[in-house]
Order: sequence, then structure tokens, then C-alpha cells
Amino acid sequence: MIEPISGFSKLQKQEKISWLAQTYLKDSPEASNILEQYWNPKKELQQLHEEFTENTISNYYLPFGIAPNFLINEKRYAIPMAIEESSVIAAASKAAKFWGENGGFQAKVINTQKIGQVHFMFEGNPEKLQRFFDQVKSTLLSSVSHLTKNMEKRGGGVLDIELKDKSAALENYFQLHCTFETKDSMGANFINTCLEKFAETLKSEAEKYTEFTPEEKDLEIVMSILSNYVPECIVRAEVSCPVENLDSPEMSGIAFAEKFVQAVKIAEIEKYRAVTHNKGIMNGIDAVVLATGNDFRAIEAGIHAYASKDGNYTSLTHASVENGIFRFWMEIPLALGTVGGLTSLHPLSKVALEILQKPSAQDLMKIVAVAGLAQNYAAVKSLITTGIQQGHMKMHLMNILNQMNASGEEKAALAAHFKTNTVTHRAVEEALQNLRNS
Ligand code: MEV
Repeated sequence: MIEPISGFSKLQKQEKISWLAQTYLKDSPEASNILEQYWNPKKELQQLHEEFTENTISNYYLPFGIAPNFLINEKRYAIPMAIEESSVIAAASKAAKFWGENGGFQAKVINTQKIGQVHFMFEGNPEKLQRFFDQVKSTLLSSVSHLTKNMEKRGGGVLDIELKDKSAALENYFQLHCTFETKDSMGANFINTCLEKFAETLKSEAEKYTEFTPEEKDLEIVMSILSNYVPECIVRAEVSCPVENLDSPEMSGIAFAEKFVQAVKIAEIEKYRAVTHNKGIMNGIDAVVLATGNDFRAIEAGIHAYASKDGNYTSLTHASVENGIFRFWMEIPLALGTVGGLTSLHPLSKVALEILQKPSAQDLMKIVAVAGLAQNYAAVKSLITTGIQQGHMKMHLMNILNQMNASGEEKAALAAHFKTNTVTHRAVEEALQNLRNS
């Protein structure tokens, strides 16, 4: 068994790689070379990336692509997307083109509240705790005034603090449930700093509260942390057009619209389908969230929780046909920032935000929601017409050929061959072999 290493974080980058090579890579120079090939030759840029996190030994590239021609609320956008999956950007671009010619995407922010909680244990009389809370609420709020001053200047701050009794679900468990407005910042640091101050003030005020018994005075703070569940930070994106505009070589507009609505309804009632359906939406959302330096894990967690807010995991998008009009829409929670955090640190995120014309957080919510809706439109359209593999495997062809070290000439020949033949891993392998033998 391999012995644990101590002091790994203190080693130089090169020493970390040598240790890894000796311990896990049979001392092969190949892996070490690959790790080093991805270092940026510009020292400051490399250092910037290394300082984003700990124990960095290399950089992990993802393609940074553009889906142009998005018309959102009458404004034209080229949307930057960081994603490795083939077809995603092509699909977004196709959907953007179609909807750009059919009225464009409409998007609106419904609300922007974020949530944070102080979780604590209180062994005593809940009514007394409520009286205590009513009395100290203003002290709690003023205890963070030095932290909220700048945020208030920008129109944000702490909106409210409520005491919630959760003791029916977990003995002695209560919370301060706090709502925040963080304007153009995602606000995680702001919220967490305020919460930790609330917790400290709650504890010290409880110790002084003369009506509490010694046990009640000793309330225990368990933790203070923002919630990534943000059902009050919602954006809506929508498209609509007369059904005849949906006419395609595969079927009439009305047949397409009805089949599309069926497909969405299946995702509304069938969990196995809903998860994949929503994954397709996240292809668009994550790619823009990542390109703009936002936290895609937070967005994923919040959106999937929202997809099951009524007790059943369901489709995030919905569709209808009424009076000859096809409508397709989605409402999702998105806590995003366009200032602070990685958005202002990562050079590519800064460029992404510039490409998006320096959006406010609310603008970015709309753009990201539209990217998700467009992606879902494109995926469901393929699924109910040609099937997903036709487009997907064509795009995947280049990946397979790269894996097989095909030359430029071979790639061109096989791209032509697979215009009329089905792409499978085996078929590409055989075709390449035949080409090489001929
Ligand atoms: C693949 O990344 C995404 C899809 O599976 C989404 C869907 O099935 O709707 C194509």
C-alpha cells in the first residue's frame, strides 16, 4: 500500500509532479510531459491560475466557443460557452437562428432574493425564543451594518430575518432564515459573512437575555451558510410562433408542435426522462455559467432542487399549442454574478462578459436561461425527428478520428464518406483501416 504523504501542499509544482510520477505513474515521463505542456508560457497567467485553488500542477482546458445570433428581448447576442461535448454549441446556434427568425426569445427576471440560514439548537421554550428574537432582531440587523454599507449603496443588503421553528422535524432545531439582495454579485461571501455575524450576535444576546434559563442561554450555533436553493431568484425564458412556422422536411408544423408537446409532457410526468431532458437544458446553462466565471455546481444543485419543488422531479420546460400558436417556456432559479469572484479574475470570463456587452446579473440570468431553453428546444427537436445520433455522431466523428490519429487528408475523406453513412465507432475504425489499406 502507498504511504500517505505529508507536506504535499508545501512542495514546488515540479516536486509535486515528480512525486506523482514516482508514486502513481511508474515514473513515466509521458504523463509529466503532458502536465507540463499545459502550463501557460506567460508566467503571470500561469500563476494567476495556480492561485485560484490549491495544489495546482497543470491547467485543464475546455473549448471556449460561441453560439451567435441569439435575439433576446430584441437585442442580438453572441453567447460564449465553455463545454467539451460535441453538438451542444452547434445545436444552440441552430436554435438561435430559427428563433431569431421567429420573434426571438423573450426573457424576464421575476425576482432576485437569495437565502442564507443560521442553524442552531435551542433547548427550551419556543415562545420565549420568539419573544427574544422579536426583541433582538434590530440588534441582529445593526450588527452587520458595517458589512452591508457598500451593498446598500448599490441597492442591495439584508431584506429580512425570520425565526423558524424546525423542532417538529428535528428536536431543538431552529433557524434564522435570512433573505438578501446582492445586486450584480453572486453574493456568497457577502451572505456568509453576514450570517456568521448574525450567529455571533444571536449567541451573545442570548447569553445576556435575563428571561432565559441557563440552558436556554446556552443555545448552540451549528452552522451559518447561504443556501444554493433560490426559489425566489427566478428567471423566465419563452419562445412562441404560429405552428406553420415549424414546418420541416420531416413533418408538418402542427404535427411537429403536437409531438414536441407530447415529448415535454413525458418529461413532466416521467422521472427517468425528466432527468435527461433537464440534463440537455444544463448543457446550455452550465456552458454559459462556466464561461462567465460563475459557480456551475451551485447552479446545478439549485436548479435540480427546483425541478422537484412540488415533491416529484419534473421537466423544467413546458410547451403548449393553443389557437395555432406553439409556446415553449421555462422558469428556473439562477443566482449569478457579473462582478466579484472569478468573473473579475479569470481573463476569459472577463472577455466572455465583454462579448455579452457587460451584462448586469439580471441580464445574465436572462441570457443563461435562454441558452438552456434553446438547448432543450434543439435536443427535443432532434429526438422527435431524426433522432439524436445522426447529428451527434457526425459531430463526434472528428473526436473519433482524432483519437485514431487520422491525418488531415484522412479526416476530409472520411467526413465525405460519413455524409451518407451512419457513424459508429466501429464503422469509423473500419473505414479508416480500408482507407489506409487502399
Ligand atoms: C445529451 O447531452 C443531452 C440529451 O440527452 C438531452 C435530451 O435527451 O433531451 C440529448
